[in-house]
Amino acid sequence: MVERNGRSQETTPSGSTHSPPDSFVEQANVADPAIHERFETNWPDCWTRAADLLSWDEPYDTVLEDDDAPFYRWFSDGRLNAAYNCLDRHLESGRKNHAAIRWEGKQGERRTYTYQDLYVEVNEFAAALRDLGVEEDDVVTIYLPMIPELPIAMLACARIGAPHSVVFAGLSADALATRMDAANSEFLITCDGYYRRGDAFNQKSKADNARIGLEQDVRTVVVDRLGDDLPHVLGDDEWDYHELCEEFAGETVEPVSRDAEDMLFLMYTSGTTGEPKGVVHSTGGYLAHVAWTSHAVLDIKPDDTYWCAADIGWITGHSYIVYGPLALGTTSVMYEGTPDYPDRDRLWEIVDRNAVDIFYTAPTAIRAFMKWGSDYPDRHDLSSLRLLGTVGEPISPRPWNWYREHIGGGDCPVVDTWWQTETGAVTISTLPGVDEMKPGSAGPPLPGVDARVVDAQGDDVEPGEAGYLTIGRPWPGMARTLYDGDERFVTEYWRRFSDPDADEWRYFSGDTARIDEDGYITVLGRVDDVINVSGHRLGTMEIEGAIADVDGVAEAAVVGRSNDAGNTEVYAYVSTEREREPDAAVRTAILESIESAIGPIARPAEVIFTPELPKTRSGKIMRRLLEDVANGEELGDTSALRNPEIVGEIQAEVGDGV
Ligand code: WT7
Repeated sequence: MVERNGRSQETTPSGSTHSPPDSFVEQANVADPAIHERFETNWPDCWTRAADLLSWDEPYDTVLEDDDAPFYRWFSDGRLNAAYNCLDRHLESGRKNHAAIRWEGKQGERRTYTYQDLYVEVNEFAAALRDLGVEEDDVVTIYLPMIPELPIAMLACARIGAPHSVVFAGLSADALATRMDAANSEFLITCDGYYRRGDAFNQKSKADNARIGLEQDVRTVVVDRLGDDLPHVLGDDEWDYHELCEEFAGETVEPVSRDAEDMLFLMYTSGTTGEPKGVVHSTGGYLAHVAWTSHAVLDIKPDDTYWCAADIGWITGHSYIVYGPLALGTTSVMYEGTPDYPDRDRLWEIVDRNAVDIFYTAPTAIRAFMKWGSDYPDRHDLSSLRLLGTVGEPISPRPWNWYREHIGGGDCPVVDTWWQTETGAVTISTLPGVDEMKPGSAGPPLPGVDARVVDAQGDDVEPGEAGYLTIGRPWPGMARTLYDGDERFVTEYWRRFSDPDADEWRYFSGDTARIDEDGYITVLGRVDDVINVSGHRLGTMEIEGAIADVDGVAEAAVVGRSNDAGNTEVYAYVSTEREREPDAAVRTAILESIESAIGPIARPAEVIFTPELPKTRSGKIMRRLLEDVANGEELGDTSALRNPEIVGEIQAEVGDGV
């Protein structure tokens, strides 16, 4: 059994379980203990409970079509518009003046958008996009940091039926260009720049560089975020966002009625090969699943103030800052800054001031809070909190308990939600009003989700054993395909554990996990060449490709290493060409190449030079061994190596480096 990246986590649940407090259960959206069973006996019709949270232009008759598996279709004869569901219907139900987004800017700015405000802005920008030539099904790329114009642009696209492809603002010009090229996207929404720890940082120059290499003409809208702090000039085919909105002030655009299976958005994510994968999400199934999980797992109610402290540039923010909470008509807090600026109590100050009810963040943040100590949260009144959530990587019992104790005051349930860009929405988690919590374990599959831990043959493992995390039946939020092609979709996710001849399909997540006798799943980590660094999913092959681009580099292998704080870092092993001395200049060139190909998030914590990489007799780099070396683990059998002598040298090098 291969277990990677999960190695340093104490993944064994601590034994002490927690029942949801009565006070929580009494008010929970979902508190029926029979829900798991009900969904099971009524599958797939159980999922109408999710679809019924939405407003449909045309009701659907068919819940699931599976005749073209693994290309499943959900609610496929229904029609709806996502922006209508997130905006218009709340105005119609008298919630016009209810806050939709409370934005907290990096410089301490605050802006509140009521549903009416958001409706106006989205309509104006939708009218502007139409005027620029955006048509239904055109892919619009959005390259914005955490400013309100980001969700506004997404919803404007959704309104006119143009799929958006949001590219995380911290990614490089090259990464943006690759994604725009792959999606053949002719529209870009970006900004002049944003603040990084008080300094103005130029985003537009990255966007400009990206466009240079593209074959297609690109029409670009630029949001002025920095005003005089970073003057910029608009070129041909460039428009100022605010001027455009002024031009279309007061205009409204009919929401385009979309087929449930029409693409709502594309989201690029890292995979096992160098090329990022364009994950395609549907309108109906996706929105139903995110709305349902926002309701059942995050327990969001319209009058709550809810805060998911993620970035909208990744799937978590799409599903749980924008679409899920807004579909339910709640108040979603959107935070532009970092947790430690201006001070380490910044998040708790925001929770206190906004009386936040529900808080959702990543284990890496929780480990940082724990390290900083409880003085920071203790300075604030956090008693408004009712529920806490985590997502993104395994959380071991210690930080889980710390979170519950010091942020949740000991009486908030904590949901550890497992899901992926590809699953669209939460697929494994306790239901906070129903299930017992076991710190260190994500919990049972959601009602209706057939998550299973299996061995290499695809058979269920015994309780306590580790295996591959798979999902045996379709679910509404699942990716429909990859933009790059159906074939790659099947190869990447389905081939490994399916039997197409028998028409039996099983999705493979790329994760390993353990399951206990109660069916609780503890996720261990990735089994493929993907590492998870502070919630950023990085493909080791992409990073290796960037290193290999550097003059004088012969070969590179990148692995994940768990540091003392339990966070995964990028570790790069590099061998140079014989005539090239591995000096500081090569190191600098490597770091620069990675930053320019992917972005600063992919910078290695260490670059270890070695005359050779350890290889099998057939010439495959032994990444597994390099990962063990990086993590200071006992090394297993190295006899399969062609060059076993190199291992000692690398170990010595790593020892010096750390
Ligand atoms: C990978 C997906 C969708 C959320 C953000 C990340 C890891 C996610 C958990 C969890 C253990 C988790 C998995 C997964 N992961 N949630 N609760 N416990 N691991 O989305 O970038 O698509 O990454 O994140 O390894 O495969 P993503």
